[in-house]
Amino acid sequence: MSNKDIDMTNINKKNNLFCITTFGCQMNEEDSEKLSGVLMEMGYEKTEKREEASIIIFNTCAVRENAELKVFGNIGALKKMKEKNPSLIIGICGCMMQQKGMAEEVIKKYPFVDIIFGTHNSHMFPEYLNSVKQHGKSVVEILDKEVGIVEGLPIDRLSSIKAFVTIMYGCNNFCTYCIVPYVRGRERSRKPEDIINEIKELVKVGYKEVTLLGQNVNSYGKGLEEEIDFAKLLRLVNEIEGLERIKFMSSHPKDLTDDVIKAIAECDKVCEQIHLPVQAGSTSLLKRMNRHYTREQYLDLVKRIKENIPNVALTTDLIIGFPGETEEDVEEVISLVKEVRYDSAFTFLYSPRKGTPAAELPDQIPEDIKHRRFNALVDELNKIGAEISKEYDGKVVEVLVEGPSKNDDNKLMGRTRTGKLVNFTGNPENIGKLINVKITKTQAFSLLGEEI
Ligand code: SAM
Ligand code: SF4
Ligand code: F3S
Repeated sequence: MSNKDIDMTNINKKNNLFCITTFGCQMNEEDSEKLSGVLMEMGYEKTEKREEASIIIFNTCAVRENAELKVFGNIGALKKMKEKNPSLIIGICGCMMQQKGMAEEVIKKYPFVDIIFGTHNSHMFPEYLNSVKQHGKSVVEILDKEVGIVEGLPIDRLSSIKAFVTIMYGCNNFCTYCIVPYVRGRERSRKPEDIINEIKELVKVGYKEVTLLGQNVNSYGKGLEEEIDFAKLLRLVNEIEGLERIKFMSSHPKDLTDDVIKAIAECDKVCEQIHLPVQAGSTSLLKRMNRHYTREQYLDLVKRIKENIPNVALTTDLIIGFPGETEEDVEEVISLVKEVRYDSAFTFLYSPRKGTPAAELPDQIPEDIKHRRFNALVDELNKIGAEISKEYDGKVVEVLVEGPSKNDDNKLMGRTRTGKLVNFTGNPENIGKLINVKITKTQAFSLLGEEI
């Protein structure tokens, strides 16, 4: 074999590589896993290294401005790569592209992009790819409205131990700050049998944990022919033999019923962890956010959850700097955080999104004030997180071992049923299994321990 032959083999192999970068939430992660699955079925191979790929895809997020700025920066950086390698195919998809006018703006600003599609037509990616390969012309296609649910797409999951399983798409809630309903369409639920079959298949190949995904899982089942709601779905999934853990997100507080609380309490596989985004601490802000619950109703819900699910871990999402937010509003959110005692929280600086009602409101909060308030809230959350972690000191916890620790080669990592990250010394043969770990040290948002 000549050197030239060896080179050719390498080029052919390189020509087959794709690299997907995902911005945004678990919904996008799952969509990327499907794009990856489709590409692998077409004969392509995955790489994490953008520079060696012949297909580069960005799956974008529009939830805050900084998510969009990141995407623009990343697309800009591809220009040189495309100049060096004109056969490189660049695809941009996801929520950001689904916004009115965005696809046109992107193709005008970055004419070297080959394929642009939105959230409703990602299943058509193979056609777009073949068209670009055949005709060499860019394809830009955004569907205005959601199509039904496309089942049966191949999926290349990031983990072989735990999986995201989308149970519903879209959102009907129109919180006044949020772009998601505009870019993900109306709520639509998957049929229970499709969900159950998918999870059974996952269990067959060794998966131990599923996270049921939806923008508001508590409204699962609406519009389906079957008599089903989220509580019933949890009970059905709980019966799947071989599955060890069930998690879910997100739960809109306005729709979390006592039936769901009862199902969580009674189903042994459903973990005692609830992500219950509160967003704000005062009834007046909640009202202006269109959240459909008051501070008192939220706190009452938390009380009922804690009474029925012992040792439940609550996490949340919080927005600081919503238009018109006062110092009293901030005091109220801090006092709510102290009362609920969240294990952890995602805290966001309010970011005006074009097309949402809140972006048009007067009294937008200056950035320096937003940051000061944000820091005060985060300090409180960190303090509480550390206190909750301390309670694990010396305890033995069940951990699903996910793989090597990210910050120590000699350790493994996994999570408790309550979602706490544990780094520990243990037997690598137990990756993918449930084991007991004794906690020897605690940090604000993670634990250290030893397998026993
Ligand atoms: N559907 C989920 C829910 O209602 O809890 C969350 C979906 S959203 C992708 C995740 C979080 O982003 C929201 O809970 C909210 O805290 C935050 N978010 C949404 N729009 C935002 C905006 N314009 N500025 C800042 N944060 C925002
Ligand atoms: Fe956005 Fe509200 Fe829907 Fe969550 S429930 S995705 S915050 S509109
Ligand atoms: Fe998720 Fe961002 Fe879209 S948070 S639903 S990827 S706008």
